[in-house]
Amino acid sequence: MAATSDVLEFRDYRMGFRDDELVHDLIDGMSFGVPTGGVLGVVGESGCGKSMTALSVMRLLPSAAVVQGGEILFNGENLLARSEAQMGEIRGRDIAMVFQEPMTSLNPVHAVGRQIEEVLRIHRSGMSAEERRNATIELLRQVGIANPQNRYTQYPHQLSGGMRQRVMIAIAVACRPQLLLADEPTTALDGTIQAQVLALMQNLKEQTRGSIMLITHNLGIVVETCDQVVIMYAGRIVERGTVERIFDHAAHPYTRGLLASLPSLAGDTGELHSIPGSVPSVADFERGCRFAPRCELRREYCAREVPPMTALSPEHAVACWVTGGGRSE
Ligand SMILES: Nc1ncnc2c1ncn2[C@@H]1O[C@H](COP(=O)(O)OP(=O)(O)O)[C@@H](O)[C@H]1O
Ligand SMILES: [Mg+2]
Repeated sequence: MAATSDVLEFRDYRMGFRDDELVHDLIDGMSFGVPTGGVLGVVGESGCGKSMTALSVMRLLPSAAVVQGGEILFNGENLLARSEAQMGEIRGRDIAMVFQEPMTSLNPVHAVGRQIEEVLRIHRSGMSAEERRNATIELLRQVGIANPQNRYTQYPHQLSGGMRQRVMIAIAVACRPQLLLADEPTTALDGTIQAQVLALMQNLKEQTRGSIMLITHNLGIVVETCDQVVIMYAGRIVERGTVERIFDHAAHPYTRGLLASLPSLAGDTGELHSIPGSVPSVADFERGCRFAPRCELRREYCAREVPPMTALSPEHAVACWVTGGGRSE
């Protein structure tokens, strides 16, 4: 059970996709919390269900998706039980999301200033047009955009990728949300800009005393940015812990594989490892441990039986029959 200080808490959450009469489970009994005022990293390869996790919080899942059970608590209240109208108030005001691809999320036919103002128009109806304009220019300045008065009237195509992502962040933090969901916010950006955008989010979090769920496929980003990490494989949490524990004592073969594929940790040989194979599609998941087909340590029962989450220390848990124990034979 997560601490009461978690701003967001998944409890045994399950969702899947409709396929004719069947529903294939993607997220299968997921439980974890985002600590209030902290940054939680959610890490996994492409196809693991990270975006569906974030979209579940926003209640913006694609139409083929089916929520099958569990709860997603925001300040102790189940978002899954909220009406569409209530969600409309929460989205953008209390919980905001930054997407991977800023170009597809910004509207190409409106100036960026207007797109930031739109959030204020919806959620801060008491503001005058002039107050909104001033607040927007201040937001552009806060996200590190020079000449905000000029940028205000520009269109997305007139900005660089890094600048567009800053505008997306300005939109997301316009109402000082308690929780920011950042879905691969820097994946489309190159190295130095990546670091700047991450530092910016960190900085804004401290100013607004908010919390962040940072989704990434890159464990390297997590070291710099996060307090705690959950490692996700094919819709399940396979390991969770503090950043220190995960980096120094990774227990799950999947986590170890992700670490071995980090350039900076490849060691003197400079040899990069990658985990053989790829994440299967939902219809092909194993009944037991979903990582079993790619796992070097697998035993014959692994693919049949789901390994329980086992605590290795107060701040570290793993779901693996081999490295987590829990099977007596
Ligand atoms: N419309 C859909 N129908 C069936 N399965 C889907 C659909 N959309 C996504 N999926 C499943 O969800 C998985 C991707 O989840 P996603 O949250 O986008 O992963 P990630 O963000 O970690 O890359 C896909 O691998 C696929 O199995
Ligand atoms: Mg994704």
